[in-house]
Amino acid sequence: MEITLDSPLDMHLHLRDGDMLKLVAPLSGDFAGAVIMPNLVPPVTEPGGMLAYNQRIREAMGNTPFSCYMTLFFTKQNEQQLALAQSTPSFFAYKLYPAGITTNSEGGVARLAEAENTLKLMEEMGIPLLVHGESHGFVMDREAEFLGVYRQLAQQFPKLRICMEHITTAAALDLLDEFENLCATVTLQHLIITLDDVAGGALQPHLFCKPIAKRPGDRDALLQAALSGHPRLMFGSDSAPHPRCKKEACGCAAGVFTAPLALPKLAEIFARHGALCQLQSFVSGNARRIYGLTPLAKQVTLQNTPMAVPGSYRSYGQQVVPMYAGEHISWSIKS
Ligand code: NCD
Ligand code: ZN
Repeated sequence: MEITLDSPLDMHLHLRDGDMLKLVAPLSGDFAGAVIMPNLVPPVTEPGGMLAYNQRIREAMGNTPFSCYMTLFFTKQNEQQLALAQSTPSFFAYKLYPAGITTNSEGGVARLAEAENTLKLMEEMGIPLLVHGESHGFVMDREAEFLGVYRQLAQQFPKLRICMEHITTAAALDLLDEFENLCATVTLQHLIITLDDVAGGALQPHLFCKPIAKRPGDRDALLQAALSGHPRLMFGSDSAPHPRCKKEACGCAAGVFTAPLALPKLAEIFARHGALCQLQSFVSGNARRIYGLTPLAKQVTLQNTPMAVPGSYRSYGQQVVPMYAGEHISWSIKS
């Protein structure tokens, strides 16, 4: 069995910088493009820094054609600043992080009221808002507690395109259905694992991410929504590489590295559920329609021939361990 995907997109990707960027960027090369997260140290807050980062990504990609949809780390902006961002090539959206909620987000938004003027302008100018939607509450309830904020934003800014990034709960899907101006990304791991896989037995640091994987009912609802072709749900891997020594450590960094195996694993899952026909919209069509994107043309054929996932990827002095390290996935990319 085979399926050919037309310009697959990863709508939430961490590529990092420096040697890690050089190692991981080519591993996303089967995608036609990706939305690039800005949480570097320091975060990407200015169009100039964003352009320079985009150039470093291009260099790290080598000859592989790849569309970068760059994001800026949300801070308060006036109209001039927003206009400058909007006119900067490769700019796609602002990414809002509640202050300190995840990796390198200390400079995020502490009180949402401070962001209102900027959000109003973004609504008027047609600039999308991507949100890391977690409260500072109990770890399993953080997303649920943030849903009220999403509701408020969706009501207050009805023309603002708001993306709930990496949703992990059935409740988030219910909210998605309530508001036309909401859309959402979901990761590979949140379609597959629950908290049990992370911490139910021996602790699995390579499955630890934010938001943390939730209950079986949440996982099942997300999977059903993806398989049934929910029109406002998009694939965003949130592939978030950290050096092996930072994952296999006390104080393990949050993030699951899935970029090199995401498409084969998605094909395996969709095929197993008889839903391969929905994969194209999940990994590209919905994003193109929602945001009006025209990614570069790239076709990737997946086949049900096994892929052996390496125990780790290493070069440039970096080593990163992927999800399914040392295991087989029953689908692979046909080269
Ligand atoms: C991400 C990272 O490492 O940058 N980590 C994660 O667990 N998902 C940040 C994020 O998207 O929250
Ligand atoms: Zn992320």
